[in-house]
Amino acid sequence: MLCGYLLVSIMSTTFAESRSVVPHAEEQIAALLGQMTLAEKIGQMNQVHAGDMDAVEVLGDALRAGKIGSIINQVDVATVNELQRIAVEESRLGIPLLVGRDVIHGFKTVMPIPIGQAATWNPDVVRQGARVAAREAAKSGINWTFAPMIDITRDPRWGRIAESPGEDPYLASRLAVAMVEGFQGDDLTAAGTIAACAKHFAGYGEAESGRDYATTNIPENELRNVHLRPFRAAVDAGVLTLMASFSDLNGVPATGNEFLMRQVLRDEWGFNGFVVSDWNSIHQLAIHGLTADDKSSALEAATAGVDMDMAGRVYAGHLEELVEDGTLDIDVIDAAVINILRAKFRLGLFENSYTDPDTLPPIANPEALATAKTAALQSVVMLKNDNKVLPLSTDRLERVAVVGPLADAPYEQLGTWIFDGDRELSVTALQGIRDLVGDQVQVDYVRAMKMSRSTSTEPFDEAVAAAGRSDAVLLFLGEESILSGEAHSRADINLPGAQAELVRRVRETGKPVIAVIMAGRPLTLTNIVDNVDAILFAWHPGTMGGPAIAELLFGLESPSGKLPVTFPRMVGQIPIYHSQKNTGKPPTPEKVVHIDDIDARAPQTSLGMAAFHLDAGYTPLFPFGFGLSYAEFAYGDIRVSADEIPVGGTITVSADLTNHGDVAADEVAQLYVRDLVGNVTRPVRELKGFRRLRVAPGETVTVSFELHTDDLAFYGRDNTLMVEPGDFHAWVGGSSDTGLRTAFRVVAGD
Ligand code: NOJ
Repeated sequence: MLCGYLLVSIMSTTFAESRSVVPHAEEQIAALLGQMTLAEKIGQMNQVHAGDMDAVEVLGDALRAGKIGSIINQVDVATVNELQRIAVEESRLGIPLLVGRDVIHGFKTVMPIPIGQAATWNPDVVRQGARVAAREAAKSGINWTFAPMIDITRDPRWGRIAESPGEDPYLASRLAVAMVEGFQGDDLTAAGTIAACAKHFAGYGEAESGRDYATTNIPENELRNVHLRPFRAAVDAGVLTLMASFSDLNGVPATGNEFLMRQVLRDEWGFNGFVVSDWNSIHQLAIHGLTADDKSSALEAATAGVDMDMAGRVYAGHLEELVEDGTLDIDVIDAAVINILRAKFRLGLFENSYTDPDTLPPIANPEALATAKTAALQSVVMLKNDNKVLPLSTDRLERVAVVGPLADAPYEQLGTWIFDGDRELSVTALQGIRDLVGDQVQVDYVRAMKMSRSTSTEPFDEAVAAAGRSDAVLLFLGEESILSGEAHSRADINLPGAQAELVRRVRETGKPVIAVIMAGRPLTLTNIVDNVDAILFAWHPGTMGGPAIAELLFGLESPSGKLPVTFPRMVGQIPIYHSQKNTGKPPTPEKVVHIDDIDARAPQTSLGMAAFHLDAGYTPLFPFGFGLSYAEFAYGDIRVSADEIPVGGTITVSADLTNHGDVAADEVAQLYVRDLVGNVTRPVRELKGFRRLRVAPGETVTVSFELHTDDLAFYGRDNTLMVEPGDFHAWVGGSSDTGLRTAFRVVAGD
């Protein structure tokens, strides 16, 4: 084992010599490739699991033989340094390792889950969160994270919605770029920056019925207009790697999908990083039924453009034979190896292969915690606040009851994908409230449920008694972190267990009831919404969730999160999302008939004959972009800088935003557009811009959005990108259901 940390890079003599005569990276890569045996090339394409084992002992010989290009899941820095040392000093060519880990929303200091970060609508805070995560992870020798996950999803049943940026391709694209910038920084060779990985390419978020890993069928036009857009943005932002999805896309699993990885990614987008499979997903091509065995899976995946096999040993086991028997062209292997070596060069791994943790900022330093707190503060969405029950005032309250399974749950508030997250750092809501109110307010805490899923109502009496003695009840409800994330989908997305009953019982006390909900997904809140006065939806808010929630509850800051995903009234409405198509029979309030109001013998045509559900109507419980504030925001005077724009031109859409309330607050102003007539039908609204602004009481600010006609482009019937002349509507407001509308026309350019 390496003692201490090697601060100088040690390179194999062979390669050091070649470097000294070859000045440019591409030439260096070519020179290195020229020295590699087939086995060494395939070694670069092989990523192996290095956690939960004596990795030096288990992997040492394979490293010396140049048979491993990357490791995953080893976070002990001394071990990582020793593995690097073996690769660099004891293998023939001395090629350093990529050290991968799922650093999804923080390392030790945990930011809100990604769907919560998306609710901030704040690329700056998201970028900063990724930077904190990168610095902390880099201290362990990690140089590659498997984030950002940028799968668009319109299905809250899907457990991985927790990791996603939500339903909208524009919001997802902005946040994808922010995360890539945060992880990778300006200079990937700098200490504390790590390679990002945009995943899962592509379409994973459309899993049928929200069942993880299930089939996806997405027409190419929809794929290009929706699902591929964030990936394109990540590629344009310089993301170093992409991960192929586990899922079957239109009959060809993504891991074997040449259309995705060759045609779109390489030929159209010019991506020159590398693609890694998902965990063992090359092997799974045979389980999908695309191939008969591992050998043909290796052939399919390599041909389709998967450069590295994650933890599968399928490439390691079969590529050599495939090349030797002439089935697979060596050029395919060479291209993959070049892509992988390029990433290693960009990371500066040949110069600095080792990690000295002391050169990086301490874990959970004040800046890291402040970022986590800001992210948590801005991620919380206030869904309801009847009679301005919030914010609470320490002056007017003597006693509050804090009730529920998520009030003091340091681990649960961190959410899914926190392999390294440190629960000891978590400040819970109970703690945050106690710290904030001090001895001004008495806090009575009753957990009432062991877990969110508990069905026993026995402890409810104590909760009701505490509620009865209090001036207000703070109910901390939701889901434990294990109820969302990979392979943790739910068919019923109501609050689990007996929580709705707890709400009902507490409501009976007549005291103001404030629900703070921590969950990994949107929940159907229809059965509790009328039994509470206020709702703060806090997702899983991470390490600093507690102080953030306390400050929001007591009005030190106003809630300012906005929903990055639509909340359905009931599960049967899914998929329900703001950018739906109009259909030929769009519903209106007049057309909706409720199931209880239909006469048994009514003729078929008695109904509205429109696209709605008899029992749920057509509107969501809470729309995309929605979120209340302690300020009172009003938008007015929407206008365009010109009624017409030529193709290639720019227009400015503006509106005035006034804070009529008595507190300063952040508002996220949003721009939506509708292309009225299209070569393919266009969504009823598309998000085209947003801005987070601080507005003082009584202040009016003008919010302006510049729109270039390229921003209006879409993939048409032949699946090429087009801008069509024609009429457009534009809306500006604080939610996707804003009514403040203007119009403009795109005309053919000169
Ligand atoms: C499987 C997941 O789908 C992927 O997102 C993750 O990065 C890998 N496992 C590695 O843990």
